Amino acid sequence: MTRQALILIGAGGHGKVVAEAAAATGRYRVAAFADDKYEQEKVEGGILRVPVADVQRLLGRLDDVQLILAVGNNVVRRRLEARLGLSADWYATVVHPSAVISKSATIGRGTVVLAGAILNADAVVGRHAIVNTKAVVEHDCAVGDYTHVSPAAALAGGVTLEAGAQVGIGACVLPGLTVGAWSTLGAGATAIRDVPAGCTAVGVPASHIRYRNAHQDHLLQVE
Ligand SMILES: CC(C)(COP(=O)(O)OP(=O)(O)OC[C@H]1O[C@@H](n2cnc3c(N)ncnc32)[C@H](O)[C@@H]1OP(=O)(O)O)[C@@H](O)C(=O)NCCC(=O)NCCS
Repeated sequence: MTRQALILIGAGGHGKVVAEAAAATGRYRVAAFADDKYEQEKVEGGILRVPVADVQRLLGRLDDVQLILAVGNNVVRRRLEARLGLSADWYATVVHPSAVISKSATIGRGTVVLAGAILNADAVVGRHAIVNTKAVVEHDCAVGDYTHVSPAAALAGGVTLEAGAQVGIGACVLPGLTVGAWSTLGAGATAIRDVPAGCTAVGVPASHIRYRNAHQDHLLQVE
């Protein structure tokens, strides 16, 4: 089987993990990493490395290619998507073969589901989301665009993660709760009530310690 070429935008730690997950599917070959840390095109470890500004040109050179925004930061993924200005069908969906995905779950374009993660019945995951290593997304959860369910985090049944929300490593959200847009539930926290939009919540049970400021709001303006 011919493997589809994949360009990963982001050559950091998360990019490496996505590259390995993509290769493990047997469906993709990582053709290039694009990252602003590269000043010019080069080949390293047998893989092309280009500045993000060169991605459009690269798309013209490669046949049958798709992309993943392989950066862990939710705001940065959203900004990269706006910067590249590509339609949704340019983006792949990568699911590590060891992930367990219910037949009734749906996963959007640009999203990665990493090793050992579980998506249970009727879970819906949006675009450019990360369901990280060993994360659990229980039945009927609605996980929005640009979200990140960190390693070993668990969303109980019917949880809503609004766009851009992050649930930190090992954190839990009790059934039916909402974690608001661009909020962060800290590592190891347990949310026992809704987390408002733009809020950082930590601890067990989680308490709200901070709200998004004007500078962070500005970073979200991509249109
Ligand atoms: C919650 C979090 C976002 C806060 O980061 P921050 O904005 O830099 O905040 P600070 O480190 O200044 O901490 C603010 C306060 O919260 C406390 N705190 C921070 N994270 C905490 C956590 N996970 N649990 C309990 N308390 C925490 C700090 O001790 C500090 O308390 P203090 O004001 O009494 O000193 C961060 O600590 C966190 O947990 N991020 C999740 C990271 C993660 O899971 N990444 C996954 C990568 S794959």
